[in-house]
Amino acid sequence: PENPGVVDEVASTSESRDNLSRKIAREVARRRTFGIISHPDAGKTTLTEKLLLFSGAIQMAGTVKARKSARHATSDWMEIEKQRGISVASSVMQFEYRDHIVNLLDTPGHQDFSEDTYRVLTAVDTALMVIDAGHGVEAQTIKLLEVCRMRNTPIITFMNKLDREARDPLELLDELETVLNIRSTPVTWPIGMGKNFRGVYHLLNDEIMLFAPGNEKADQTFEVIKGIDNPRLMEMFPMEMEQLQMEVELVKGASNPFVLEEFLAGTLTPVFFGSAINNFGVREVLNALLDWARPPLGREAIQRKVEPTETPFSGFVFKIQANMDPAHRDRIAFMRVTSGRFERGMRLKHLRLNRDIKVSSVVTFMASSREQVEEAYAGDIIGLPNHGNMQIGDSFSEGEVLQFTGIPFFAPEIFRSVRIRNPLKVKQLHKGLQQLGEEGAVQVFKPVMGSDLILGAVGVLQFEVVASRLMNEYGVDAVFESTSTTSARWVSCEDKKMLSDFERSLAHNVAYDAAGNMTYLATSGVNLRLTEERWPKVRFHATREHS
Ligand code: G4P
Repeated sequence: PENPGVVDEVASTSESRDNLSRKIAREVARRRTFGIISHPDAGKTTLTEKLLLFSGAIQMAGTVKARKSARHATSDWMEIEKQRGISVASSVMQFEYRDHIVNLLDTPGHQDFSEDTYRVLTAVDTALMVIDAGHGVEAQTIKLLEVCRMRNTPIITFMNKLDREARDPLELLDELETVLNIRSTPVTWPIGMGKNFRGVYHLLNDEIMLFAPGNEKADQTFEVIKGIDNPRLMEMFPMEMEQLQMEVELVKGASNPFVLEEFLAGTLTPVFFGSAINNFGVREVLNALLDWARPPLGREAIQRKVEPTETPFSGFVFKIQANMDPAHRDRIAFMRVTSGRFERGMRLKHLRLNRDIKVSSVVTFMASSREQVEEAYAGDIIGLPNHGNMQIGDSFSEGEVLQFTGIPFFAPEIFRSVRIRNPLKVKQLHKGLQQLGEEGAVQVFKPVMGSDLILGAVGVLQFEVVASRLMNEYGVDAVFESTSTTSARWVSCEDKKMLSDFERSLAHNVAYDAAGNMTYLATSGVNLRLTEERWPKVRFHATREHS
């Protein structure tokens, strides 16, 4: 050939492309990305800590816990700001276990509860639901499960605190079905509880794991006895065995069998019993996550579905967090990688702005900071520092035009009207609220009538955060006051004339959100229901997709 060098180069490029796509397929297959949903105090922090402990990511339990109490010691904004550095780092944890890469996304709870809590769940493939077995299903769990249901996210359940008096296990399973409307299948079954907690019986493996109060060592193992008919068990627990055998018969007969496809479809949740603080039953849950949960799935974009193993990189932003120092308005955009390989220093196309960016400083989230991660694959989360030009829902690629869908805004549940002390600052107020709205810190509604803006949130801390950020970053002293609004619904109607009639007749209750979508602000549940009945052709939405 006239120009052998060129041919060689082509050959080697296509060979390395093959290598790359094989490597991507391997890396995707070993990834699992999940979040924990729970009501405050059910044991999420404790469980997180134990999971990290197994992976060797932290040496001593207590680290995550210390962060948590530091974070909740005060709600004073400057304190929150100081803690931000910590919460950025602890809101995504990546660890290795059994040759898998596990990404655990924190779903902020307690006073931190905000729309982020919901949106984080749109970036996970599996949810781990922690329930305090003494309390059963509680309010916040119900809300979070609803969000999981929007994407049929598979759910693994951990019934925690069996070392204390708990509710009847059958009743707990029943509650999953009646309150959460999800079918359940027990994988382990508790033997006794509280002071008489002896361990759990693994229904699928036919073995009994004996309970022993846990210590803080990572490599703790519990004694396992094979077979429910094992004579040793009768010797050890003459009182309990008969009862257990009866219960197991009953449970096997009455409960749903484990069917992997149903779990993956989000319609059946495998249930494990244990005690997080004692380390007991936690490893089983982690193993289930690796064995049963899926690696990262393909993601829908408006243009097409993107598969995780495609070689070109793509990803979307699901959360924005302001940075520590209020003097520097930089933020971190949390991006979930959806395909390809991310490498530090690569060029990405920011599709909403149609602009190329070079990503040289990127935050990754290895829970053990021993290694610097230079690359990321589908399912991983990377943090991109920016100055406010990245928004929730933004998509990034190596050039292809893609807009990922399924990153929702949720109808706020608490409302304040906002007024400023110094009328000369009205421009700054609007600018500040516009930016905070885009960042997802709060939702901002501009009523058709009247000049006060209405702010909507799902957690009260959001207002506090907004007030201090308005002051610190925009020099605006804003006063928040209660308002008659009790709920908000985005409205749409195919008949445009009807929609403008709607707006005109209900002008006192109609507003526009930061992205210009028409919203109905209801003053009570009855008011909302009546309006829905009176306008049957108008559709009322409790969520809206990022646009
Ligand atoms: P959260 O993140 O879901 O809010 O819960 P967290 O892990 O902080 O646990 C809430 C409380 O429940 C903690 O007690 C924790 O120690 C306790 N806990 C967690 N798992 C178990 C368990 O398996 N058995 C028992 N008996 N308790 C458990 P606390 O009093 O709030 O904190 P601490 O002072 O004991 O650390």
